[in-house]
Amino acid sequence: MEKEIREAQEKFAELIRSEYERIEKMKAEQEITDFGKLEKIIVGVLPGDGIGPIIMEQALRVLKDLMGPELETGKLEIRVIEGMTIENRAAKLQSLPDEVLDEVLKCNVLLKGPMVTPRASDPWPNLLSANSLLRRKLELFAAVRPIRIPEKNIDWTFFRENIEGEYIWGNKGIQVNEDLAVDFKVQTRQGSERIARAAFEFARKNGKKNVTIVTKANIVKLADGNFIKAVRKVGEEYPEIEIQERLVDAMCAKMLDTEFNKGIEVIVLPNLYGDIVTDVAAEHQGGLGTASSSNLGNRYAMFEAIHGTAPYLIEHNRGAYADPCSLIRAVGMMLAHIGYGDRKELLEQALDICTVTERKKVVTTMPEDASAEEFTDYLLETIEKIRA
Ligand code: IPM
Ligand code: MN
Repeated sequence: MEKEIREAQEKFAELIRSEYERIEKMKAEQEITDFGKLEKIIVGVLPGDGIGPIIMEQALRVLKDLMGPELETGKLEIRVIEGMTIENRAAKLQSLPDEVLDEVLKCNVLLKGPMVTPRASDPWPNLLSANSLLRRKLELFAAVRPIRIPEKNIDWTFFRENIEGEYIWGNKGIQVNEDLAVDFKVQTRQGSERIARAAFEFARKNGKKNVTIVTKANIVKLADGNFIKAVRKVGEEYPEIEIQERLVDAMCAKMLDTEFNKGIEVIVLPNLYGDIVTDVAAEHQGGLGTASSSNLGNRYAMFEAIHGTAPYLIEHNRGAYADPCSLIRAVGMMLAHIGYGDRKELLEQALDICTVTERKKVVTTMPEDASAEEFTDYLLETIEKIRA
């Protein structure tokens, strides 16, 4: 027993040590890319697995249409990055193969399709999540996930901390012996403050008056308690913005309850709660296929759909009927982030026509309805009409 305890202690010490280094790095890396000042913006494209390449093809048609002039002059470049497939990752036994990371680091922003994250029961080697690795390597500390449900008067923006919490040591838990397993939850002051700042800055810039902190601080005393403390401290610099707190279980259960969700506009929350709550919210919005996410850091940013690779559709030969909207919305978020908010507006306007008001072609994933390509034809025609 003593030997097992000593080994566990040593592993734990190693983990703590790595965290000291990461904190120093966070303190040092405060410079923020100003996309307006870049001569050229390189968009790296990672199509992903399953339905990823299918919906990416359509998303790229939209991107090329919206950014025609900039692509022509070379102000924008689209660079498809090969090798980030589950087959290649499994063959190399690397979640994020070195040659892929090299290419990724040469880009400014990334557009990413869904990727397989193997589970123990899958035929693939049990690789680390490529998502978490990309977020960590590029320091994409903020997952920004908008949710709009107009008929319920909901217009929320989630700021999910994207690196720490249960994710950061996700594959470094300690199996002390056959009976005892320990995983960790890590929260740093720096990590909490930077997501808080991102949330308050967004609130201020967008005229929002409320930031809601969602945790389970009644149980997770330290990690969540410190998260709240950090958010409140940063909040002192934004006196015009009111702060409130909610518990994560109640938030999941009652988010549509108008008494409960009163005042909510911007929501800031630790990583795992953010993962879960944003899925619940996306379902209320109309399904995971309708939601998209940006992963923002000081230097890089990555834009993606929040759904998975849809193996069911692929197995049933319905990949071509996958809904490309979530990834297309991610294109819009990306364009706004790099300074083309007007193109995002145009795209959103067209999406509203195609998915809410007019709905001449509908994607249900069934072959009797529109395919991803047919829907995108319709969307591009609609964009053209708005332009004219
Ligand atoms: C998400 C996804 C990822 C996460 C997975 C694929 C690692 O569910 O972006 O929400 O858990 O963060
Ligand atoms: Mn998720």
